[in-house]
Amino acid sequence: MNAYLIIKELHSGFRYIVFILVLVAIIQSLLGWLGQKPYTPLNRKINLFALISAHTQLLIGIVLFFMSPLVAFNSDTMKNEVTRYFTVEHWVGMIIAIVLITIGHSKSKKIILPESKHRTVAIYYIIAFLIIVATIMAGHLPVLGS
Ligand code: HEM
Ligand code: HEM
Repeated sequence: MNAYLIIKELHSGFRYIVFILVLVAIIQSLLGWLGQKPYTPLNRKINLFALISAHTQLLIGIVLFFMSPLVAFNSDTMKNEVTRYFTVEHWVGMIIAIVLITIGHSKSKKIILPESKHRTVAIYYIIAFLIIVATIMAGHLPVLGS
């Protein structure tokens, strides 16, 4: 296996770690917000790990961007659904989601009221999660990807 394939598999597999951590963060923050629970050290850790997983995926994605044959800059890039998706749509969608996670995490850190801390994480992470899922679907469904 060459370096490209290793990084590609790593990035592709790492999606599940991001999914699971962001989902767990969403569930705990919804429970905390709606149930008016305290903001525990475990809550803080899970929210932080979800952010770290998203940043790590960003870093791997950037490396992959410069290695992937599906990223191209020529006159046919936009005509082909696959090269257009990976050259443009994929990273734009994912970076928007990662920025939302980062903003949500950072805003929540500055808030003191536990209920608002949970609410901020819940809202930002939910929107980010939906964007991640939509972006991956756009790469698989021709009707959405076109
Ligand atoms: C291209 C790569 C990366 C970029 C552009 C990036 C960017 C950022 C930005 C803008 C922040 C927000 C700082 C703030 O809250 O004001 C941040 C925070 C953070 N990032 Fe990254 N990051 C990257 C990679 C990574 C990686 C690889 C890791 C860990 C393995 C990581 C871990 C963290 C942590 C722990 C925080 C602080 C969270 C906190 O506020 O407690 N980042 N990063
Ligand atoms: C939360 C963030 C991200 C997730 C969950 C994610 C997920 C994935 C997945 C699952 C694939 C495999 C193809 C597919 O099934 O659609 C993929 C491929 C790829 N990703 Fe990401 N990605 C993320 C962020 C990024 C970023 C920020 C970049 C670039 C800056 C990037 C660059 C790429 C490239 C170039 C490929 C194509 C690999 C190839 O087959 O040659 N990704 N990504």
